[in-house]
Amino acid sequence: MHTLAQAFDASENIGRNNSDSPSIQEVVAARLNRRAVLKGTLGIAVLATTVGPPVSVKAAPGRSADIDANPRFKFDDIGPGGGYDHQVANGYDADILIRWGDPVLPGAPAFDPASQNAGGQRLQFGYNNDFLGYLPMPGAANPSHHGLLVVNFEYTSAELMLPRAGQQDIRTDEDIADIEMAAHGGAVIEVERAAGKWRVVAGSKFARRIDVETPIEVAGPAAGHDRLKTQTDPSGRHVRGMLNNCGGGITPWGTWLSCEENFHGYFWGEVAPHHREAGNFKRYGVRGQWYEWGRWHDRFDLAKEPNEANRFGWVVEIDPFDPTSTPKKRTALGRFKHEGAAGIVNKDGRYVIYMGDDESFEYVYRFVTAARVHPPGNAANRNILDDGVLSVARFNADGTLDWLPLVHGHGLITEANGFASRADVLIETRRAADLLGATKMDRPEDVEANPRTGRVYVSLTNNAGRTADQVDAANPSADNRFGHIVEMTPADGDHTANRFTWDILLKCGDPSIAPEVAASSASGVESGWLAMPDNIAVDAQGRLWIATDGNTMATTGRTDGLWGLETEGLFRGRAKQFYRVPAGGELCGPVFTPDDETLFVAVQHPGEPAGSDPGTQDIPLRHLGVAWPDFRPGIPPRPSVVAITKRGGGKIAT
Ligand code: FEO
Ligand code: CA
Ligand code: CA
Ligand code: CA
Repeated sequence: MHTLAQAFDASENIGRNNSDSPSIQEVVAARLNRRAVLKGTLGIAVLATTVGPPVSVKAAPGRSADIDANPRFKFDDIGPGGGYDHQVANGYDADILIRWGDPVLPGAPAFDPASQNAGGQRLQFGYNNDFLGYLPMPGAANPSHHGLLVVNFEYTSAELMLPRAGQQDIRTDEDIADIEMAAHGGAVIEVERAAGKWRVVAGSKFARRIDVETPIEVAGPAAGHDRLKTQTDPSGRHVRGMLNNCGGGITPWGTWLSCEENFHGYFWGEVAPHHREAGNFKRYGVRGQWYEWGRWHDRFDLAKEPNEANRFGWVVEIDPFDPTSTPKKRTALGRFKHEGAAGIVNKDGRYVIYMGDDESFEYVYRFVTAARVHPPGNAANRNILDDGVLSVARFNADGTLDWLPLVHGHGLITEANGFASRADVLIETRRAADLLGATKMDRPEDVEANPRTGRVYVSLTNNAGRTADQVDAANPSADNRFGHIVEMTPADGDHTANRFTWDILLKCGDPSIAPEVAASSASGVESGWLAMPDNIAVDAQGRLWIATDGNTMATTGRTDGLWGLETEGLFRGRAKQFYRVPAGGELCGPVFTPDDETLFVAVQHPGEPAGSDPGTQDIPLRHLGVAWPDFRPGIPPRPSVVAITKRGGGKIAT
């Protein structure tokens, strides 16, 4: 057992050479060796497909020769390492915008961990901020200086949050359960930049908290189905709350898609082996029993209310500009452990959403709307996500990819196989995808299209459970501890096409630990790699940014953070670290303002125990005054949103 000081010193010694400048010959050699001159995919399809505000990205004028010859990220790599504080590249400011427990709604009490209660928490910023979306304020003088920030709150850890919470209390204290329920969900906050600095607008008419009690409507083909009916909701259309909201998306019509991921963890109790839902629950890992809310709330007890578990695991659509609107669970997008829901307007005007199901050996999905997107403000967009085709990806060994439609009555998705209706297919999306022979992936996290290039990136975070006889072309590493990134390219830039091509952009990890990485990636330099990719952001210049989840001083010599990743030209596959989180944390939600001058990030679970990370063996960091970001004795670590800007102004990383 180390003391805190020893642990911190040891971590400092793990640092590696910061040098990140390979000779151009080294880079060329690595590139040619790896990709056989890009298999003829050098040309970039330029798509002018993004519709107008609120989130607009201008179409690229065309491929620049400059991309081939020069790295596109202009900043100094911060190199490996980690500590109690966060760190951003030289020349940038990383300012705390809002923390767990800060006021969101009128009447919210000031944060006081010793007297935290559910009533206060419902009005305050929730715990473990994850996805962030920025929506410019209509009519703002500068759309990149004034907007709404939407925020997911994924999960809670009472033992980190509350001074009174020991393991025993968490299991037996109803008040703690109620605080945790109030700290889940999401928030809308209004934010403004003045004199270079961002602040939350107090008393905003847009401010909103959503939690585990918020009324939410079920929409789409599964709404009202018998399998969604409960004793308190015989209609099968009115759910209370959303659970474990992880990644998300912002639609071109100005709504927020918030994704329910590990919903299984909230249920306890069980159903009989012959019960209608027994197979369904088994496939989704229900019951997870991460929380014991079912002790006080019957709906989380499968024995009392089995269908409640079918009412979670969906993508929730929320109108952030109308705080009185009822969020909607869009069942047409399927039920699984949704990571994110980033989309792109196809060249024919239909909206295409790419989605990962984040669990080992799960699938990559795509949803294509039946209707075309209308300009923002048009009511025709309101329920556009209720009708469309959900498909699942099969990555073929020859570099092609087939989207297999999950359509009731087609192929094996029939009544004989247990699917009596379209609703059944959506409620048991995973089992339907199994029947079609989809490719089992290494934990799909964010899947995001780059509107500049038309290419789509799939973040596969890791899968140490894959054995040598389970590898395939798209998941080529056994014991894949560090993950990889797959690039999908739609034929003719048509995101609705049934056949794409695919390639591996990057095998992740430390080349000194995983030699096959060095042989297959263009990193070529000690600090030019990243591990365990998770959330993805594409900035207005079409550059790819990757956030990570799972790095520790023990395993990769660094805490999680944000990397710029080259996707084109000679430096393709080369990563540079721009920001790192404090020990124990994970980086979520990277999002840029439309001018690329502000980068918002969400630091999740700082101080969470993470092996030998400094300080995190000893959970009560609060006693020592080293808990981020307050650094005050008695104050626990607080997940927070950070606004990053360039000192003196200008676009990030240019
Ligand atoms: Fe909640 Fe897949 O990360
Ligand atoms: Ca997370
Ligand atoms: Ca994630
Ligand atoms: Ca993750």
